[in-house]
Amino acid sequence: MNVKAESKALEPLRPQAVPGYLQETYWWAYVHPNAVSFFERQWLVNLILWGNFARLRDAALAELGREVPGRTLQVACVYGNFTEHLAARVAPGGQLDVVDVLPIQLRNLRQKLSPLAPVTLHQYDSTALGFEGASFDQAIVFFLLHEQPAAARRQTLREALRVVKPGGKLVLVDYHLPRRLHPLRYLFRPVLHALEPFALDLWRHEIMEWLPEGVSAAQIRKQTYYGGLYQKLVISV
Ligand SMILES: C[S@@+](CC[C@H](N)C(=O)[O-])C[C@H]1O[C@@H](n2cnc3c(N)ncnc32)[C@H](O)[C@@H]1O
Repeated sequence: MNVKAESKALEPLRPQAVPGYLQETYWWAYVHPNAVSFFERQWLVNLILWGNFARLRDAALAELGREVPGRTLQVACVYGNFTEHLAARVAPGGQLDVVDVLPIQLRNLRQKLSPLAPVTLHQYDSTALGFEGASFDQAIVFFLLHEQPAAARRQTLREALRVVKPGGKLVLVDYHLPRRLHPLRYLFRPVLHALEPFALDLWRHEIMEWLPEGVSAAQIRKQTYYGGLYQKLVISV
């Protein structure tokens, strides 16, 4: 297969319903035509994560290894250089697939990637991934779950686990309840409440609670960062 010809492939974009929460709650961040030109700045996405972007990106990617073999799925685009770093780790013969429901986000990602990157972009809703079961060796979901209402979050997790092969892993990075004396536990709550209302679900519940039946605690490894404000879960499939 000609990797060069396949690189930066973007499957034909088609009209697809924008999820209600994305249109209503996150239009300003992802849907509006000016959103990309405003938010696509490394310093800004780093600021939004209180200076932790690189740390969390690298913690997520470290779970996949320095060289990532086989087929990898990234569920949803990310502002900043997350996908460039992931693509750079893809081992020879490997492949990265990235899905997002918004054409504007997929076009922006395509522009950020090298023409030689072994990456294919797909327009899919994370709640209905158009891949066969067990298609991927690993999958990664970076700060998507907190943006979704519980039903969509649950279905996203179900889909991500469905498409990972037995023996593979699913890596999740997202918000988490900060420790009791963490100032952001008190200062950041009203901001999240106003701008990202579903995010506080991740302060009140464990991600485990939205996983499909049959996933046991023994399959999950959890680590928190920055005084507990962030978490990484690695689920062995
Ligand atoms: C990964 S999340 C947030 C990442 C991070 N906050 C950042 O700085 O980009 C943002 C992406 O998720 C996408 N998204 C939201 N809901 C989705 C869904 N149901 N299916 C696929 N993509 C979705 C949005 O279009 C957007 O590109």
